[in-house]
Amino acid sequence: MSTEQKTNTEITPEAIMDETLSKHHGCMWVLAEVEACLDQPDKEGMWVEELRDALPRLGVQMRRHFKEEEGGALYRKLPTTHPRLATRLEKLENEHALILERIDGAVERVTRLKNAQPYELRELNAHVQMLVAMIQRHEAAENELVIEAHWAEFGGGD
Ligand SMILES: [Fe+2]
Repeated sequence: MSTEQKTNTEITPEAIMDETLSKHHGCMWVLAEVEACLDQPDKEGMWVEELRDALPRLGVQMRRHFKEEEGGALYRKLPTTHPRLATRLEKLENEHALILERIDGAVERVTRLKNAQPYELRELNAHVQMLVAMIQRHEAAENELVIEAHWAEFGGGD
């Protein structure tokens, strides 16, 4: 049962941590798919075609993932049970819209690209690399918060 389906009193920081880490594991697959398209000079223009397929999938996956998180315990419960984490959680929640905007921008960019010059391909490659890194950083920051919340239960670790 996901944390969204339980009442607040049933959800432990451990359950929030387990669910967040497992959902992020799922997101990593689609991110890895996008990364696999990048930096493949031996495939010449092929990677652009692969990106045209992979980027919209990333958009669908991240939109669904963020919506679940925003309605779930990570963003709705943790700020109340762990007020110390509230500001960082708020910043991360606000970043969701920015990430989705950047993904949509990258989809538009790759769709528009026709008979691209080498410099345009390099720019696209760098742009998508930055996007992937941004999403990885975001998810890692969320992981850090749920792990912190879990350890806070045991008196703050050491
Ligand atoms: Fe996330």
